[in-house]
Amino acid sequence: MAPSLDILILAAGKGTRMRSDLPKVLHPLAGKPLLTHVVHTAKTLGPARICVVYGFGGEAVPQAMAAEDLSFVLQAEQLGTGHAVGQALPWLVDAGVTLVLYGDVPLIRPSTLEPLVGAARAGRVGLLSVDLDDPAGYGRIVRVDGQVIRIVEHKDADDAERAIREVNTGILALPTARLKAWIQGLKNDNAQGEYYLTDIIAMAVADGVVVETHAPAHAWEVLGVNSKAQLAELERIHQREVARGLMEAGVTLADPARLDVRGHIECGRDVSIDVNCVFEGRVVLGDGAKVGANCVLRDVELGPGVVVQPFCHIESARLGARASIGPYARIRPGTELAEEVHVGNFVELKNAQVGCNSKINHLSYVGDATVGRKVNIGAGTITCNYDGANKHRTTIEDEVFIGSDTQLVAPVTVGRGATLGAGTTLTRDAPAGELTLSRVKQLTLSGWQRPVKKK
Ligand code: UD1
Ligand code: CA
Repeated sequence: MAPSLDILILAAGKGTRMRSDLPKVLHPLAGKPLLTHVVHTAKTLGPARICVVYGFGGEAVPQAMAAEDLSFVLQAEQLGTGHAVGQALPWLVDAGVTLVLYGDVPLIRPSTLEPLVGAARAGRVGLLSVDLDDPAGYGRIVRVDGQVIRIVEHKDADDAERAIREVNTGILALPTARLKAWIQGLKNDNAQGEYYLTDIIAMAVADGVVVETHAPAHAWEVLGVNSKAQLAELERIHQREVARGLMEAGVTLADPARLDVRGHIECGRDVSIDVNCVFEGRVVLGDGAKVGANCVLRDVELGPGVVVQPFCHIESARLGARASIGPYARIRPGTELAEEVHVGNFVELKNAQVGCNSKINHLSYVGDATVGRKVNIGAGTITCNYDGANKHRTTIEDEVFIGSDTQLVAPVTVGRGATLGAGTTLTRDAPAGELTLSRVKQLTLSGWQRPVKKK
């Protein structure tokens, strides 16, 4: 059996340049903390354990990660990456291998990490390095006759070493028993007075352990976040990759640079998405669905052929086949639209179940309501679902016609095929098949004069 894998994620740093009270690793990328991205990638490698070394921000990090089934080790003082790993040593299983990841390097991919773990399982050190045009600030990989012999940190490097463009990404994997021995030998007699994890490379070489370098498939995988500008850069890289994946799967994007997926999106065939749409949570877009410009969809399922016109906000809702929404519609949680429902501009729906072929086309609020099939709800209709203390339901049966500017004071039912005259304030049930209205009789006061301004 292959030696078990423990994964250590270093996340104790303060991230001074973020200029924020939130620990750096909790800043969101695509709607979830940087650290969560790393944790989710780590989980795909099938580790025995994942341990997060945290420090700055106190319990905020473990609290934010409570749902993830992780171990946590506190590094009270940040004395360097070697010291950080040192805090977690008692927790690592000697017979296994350890992979070290950074909590602020969120775009790393499993396929880039697998060869490192493979090297560790073969008794070697697997080190992820990358060639940079501008290597300033990074640890440099020093080689002799092609073999890695040590890493020198930028601040400790001489001019010749600073000219080296191959840098340490910080990510490495190695046999755990070796790691423990080497960490215990670290000293902090260097330019920064820190315990450098990178010093273990020279120790490995001294002990005759082969150091094997691997490169990431894409240079952006190893980019870290140290500032808000870098966070925004990584967000764009991530979104670009999501957009690329969608287009490869056949989705039409008006502009891949103007798409934000902050969760999980699934698309059928011939889906098209216009510019500036935000998708959050779990979103499913059925075959031929179209989403217009400037829409926000969170936890939404669109059936086949649904058309969402521009400027709609839809949350926790299901829209049946060929339904049409917007522009400027707000669909709130619990709403379910059957096939071919039309919801027009400035309509708000909340926890409303609407039957097929019904229309709510203009300026209405329909909340806590059951609406049948082939119902027409006129402009400006309001379900008065809240009495100041409790919410009540409105039931509108099949083939009802509701005139404009009607208030339905819930709980109330409009019977099948009923018609409500425009301007009705309905406080009792309306019988099926009849016309119900509540207006006063129209009258004209002849000779009436408008008031005039007093001199
Ligand atoms: C480190 C590497 C350097 C590499 C660079 C890549 C060392 C000594 N240097 O440098 O070779 O090129 O990363 O970005 O390892 N951390 C802790 N506790 C600490 C110190 C750091 O948890 O005491 C965490 C940070 O939160 C961060 C990671 O370790 O996630 C790296 O720390 P950072 O200070 O960015 O390392 P560098 O000095 O940039
Ligand atoms: Ca760094």
